Formats: sequence, C-alpha cells, structure tokens
Amino acid sequence: MKQLSGKRVLLGVCGSIAAYKSAELVRDLRDAGAEVRVVMTEAATEFITPLTLQALSGHPVRTGLVDTAAEAAMGHIELARWPDAVLVAPASADFIARLAQGRADDLLAALCLATRAPVALAPAMNAGMWENAATRANIDKLTRQGVAFFGPVSGALACGEQGPGRMIDNRTIIDKLAALFPSAALQGVAVLVSAGPTREAIDPVRYLSNRSSGKMGFAVAAAAVEAGAQVTLISGPVALPTPERVKRVDVISAAQMYRAVMEHAPAHQIFVAAAAVADFVPQAFAQQKLKKEKFSAEDGFVLRLKQSPDILAELAGREQRPFLVGFAAETESVEQNGCAKLQRKKLDMIAINDVSEGRGFDRDENELLVLWPGGRARLELAGKGRLARELMGLIADRYREHYEKNTT
Ligand code: CTP
Repeated sequence: MKQLSGKRVLLGVCGSIAAYKSAELVRDLRDAGAEVRVVMTEAATEFITPLTLQALSGHPVRTGLVDTAAEAAMGHIELARWPDAVLVAPASADFIARLAQGRADDLLAALCLATRAPVALAPAMNAGMWENAATRANIDKLTRQGVAFFGPVSGALACGEQGPGRMIDNRTIIDKLAALFPSAALQGVAVLVSAGPTREAIDPVRYLSNRSSGKMGFAVAAAAVEAGAQVTLISGPVALPTPERVKRVDVISAAQMYRAVMEHAPAHQIFVAAAAVADFVPQAFAQQKLKKEKFSAEDGFVLRLKQSPDILAELAGREQRPFLVGFAAETESVEQNGCAKLQRKKLDMIAINDVSEGRGFDRDENELLVLWPGGRARLELAGKGRLARELMGLIADRYREHYEKNTT
C-alpha cells in the first residue's frame, strides 16, 4: 500500500524561492497516493504560477480569500474541512509569524486557523530569519499548539549564505507527513517500553551510569502510539519530553526499573526493552559522601559491584509473558553476539545496535539489525523516529503471527 493512500492533503505554498520545489512535491504526494489541493499566498504566485500547480494537482488552485466564483464551488470553510492534513511547503518566516498570531488575513492563514486537521509546516528562509528570536518564539508557540515542523536543514541557501533554512527534501516531507496518520497495526494492544540509562548511586553525590540518551526508546514509544497501541514508557533519567498520549513512569536505578517493569508487564502484551539497564551496581551505598582523604594515592579506591537482576531474562522465564523485544548494544561480532543474546534470553525479537567507534549513542540517527527466531531484517541508517516506526512495523507483524499461532 502507498504511504498516503486515500489521504487528502491541502498543500499551502508561500512566497519563497523554494516554491519551485512545490511543483515536484504535488507530483510526489500524488505518487504516494494522496489527493492534493493547492492554496497559494499572493506572494507565492510571484515565484510559480497557479496554472502549473493546477495542472499537476488536477484541481483548481485557490489564492484569494474573497473569490466569489471559487467560493461558490467550495467555500473556504468547506475547504478547511476537506483535508486529512494541511501541509505548508515552503512556509515563509512571515507566514509562520502570521500563523503564530492566529491571523486570518489571507486564504491559507484562514484555512490553517479553521481546520481541525493536523497542520505541518516545512520552513524555507534565510538563516538569519530562521535563527531570529522572533521566529524562534513563533515556532515555540506553534509547536506547543500542536503544529508540526518538518525541517529545515542546513545547506546552501538561495541568498548565497550557508546555514539552517533550507527546505527539507520531498521524500522526507512525505515520510514525516505519513507519520502523522496513525496506522491501526497495534490497535487495542498495550505496549510497555523501557528507555534511557539507569543511575546507580555510590554515595549521596556520585553515581554510575551509561551513555544512553533514551532517544531510541522514546521514539519507539511514539511509534507504538502512532500504530494505535496504548503505551506505558518506563524511563530512566533523561532530558526528553514525553511523547503525546504516552503514560510515563520515571525511575532512576536498575532496582526501580526492575520493580516498575514487573509491576506493569502483566497488563501489557508487548514489552520493548530499550533501556540500558546497569548490569552491575555498587554493592553498598555510602550514606555520607566518600572523602578522598580516606583513600591512599597508591591503593586508589576500589568499588565493589554486584550483578543486578536481568529484567528481560526474568520475564522470559514466566509462563504468562508479554511478547519480548530486547535491544543489544554490541561493539564486536555484532550479529553473532546479538543472535546468542536472542537465544540465551529466550526473546521473541532483538534489535542490535552496533556501538563500535561511538556509533548509536546520543545521536539522532541510527541503524539496526533485527533478528527473531527464523528471520532477520536490516534497518538502514535513518532518523530514530523513522527507524522506530520501521521497527514497530516488524514488531506488529511478528506479534500478530505469534498471537495467531498461540490462539488457533
Ligand atoms: N536488560 C535487562 N535487565 C538488565 C540488563 C539488561 O532487561 N539488568 C535488557 C536491556 O534492556 C536490553 C537487553 O537486556 O534490552 C540487552 O542488554 P545487555 O546489557 O546488552 O545484555 P547482556 O545480556 O547483559 O549482555 P552483555 O552486557 O554482556 O552484552
């Protein structure tokens, strides 16, 4: 099935040199299965003609708010009700400012104000405008109101400068737009996700932890929501906002993570263990801060660690267990070690992260090798959001098969 099959997309085009890319975007959106109607601002018509976009979209292009003939065919409120999503690409700094003020002084702004469909903006502007405090404040305000921003990226700009402000490519725009529509692959399924590092206290001021940022686990939780699941996210200490519609439980240590997972697992059908739980934790906690005078320079400081319980392995040993997906961070013999972990921990699936040479940690992009008994898939380098969606697709397919096998 095509990514945007049957979806109605209202494409808004603003006055920016990137408007020339909108012609191709109309075609790409239609190739992805969408029905497209185009609304242009007056300024946009200085860069590209309505006739071009009309020919490509197969529908009349609207520009003015007060156009009696066009209003008679489809009134602007009717047009605001028509789309499944409004995509403004390119979105200029001026348009973003007008939207942030809630203005309705041209047709496109009025439609964005009136529509109940999700609104996404793909900005394109000069780097100075993008970085200006006024634009940043407008973007913050709109983001809080639920407007999605696709890009921009850094690169050569039409004004001759280098920097952020370049509209993202059409392929990425379409991927991001498709992600706004929930699939029903996990409708009615409860998914538990663990994410982030754990922190193991040594004394009141010191702890042992690891380099996990939690980004992958949070992206997995967001992807599960998109797929229609009810999601509980158990998170170690991270600096990330909670994804929409996710129930979040915060923990600090491996012991707390263990208790939280054991408490919530029975009510969930799938558990995705993306957390980097400490395998070893300090044997004892010093109630008072350890003073360095207590240790000699020659002997140093020896910290005894004890093994922490393996959450996944324990769940795997239960008779009533969720569908279990583990993560493995490996620096060598990546596939061999991952495969051994899949079998040793009796998992239903494992996503293997190659973290050699600093890869995988605290990055926005990643790649994964996914293994399950009798199958494998390689998920190529991509943003963690997209990667999580692909992983969730594999999990949903495997879970359905597993579920059907166990109920027939
Ligand atoms: N995990 C867990 N409980 C722990 C440690 C890890 O549930 N106490 C989970 C992680 O969330 C991850 C998977 O187990 O999904 C793999 O963790 P990892 O530490 O890489 O595996 P180990 O089997 O401990 O092997 P090693 O550390 O030797 O690579």
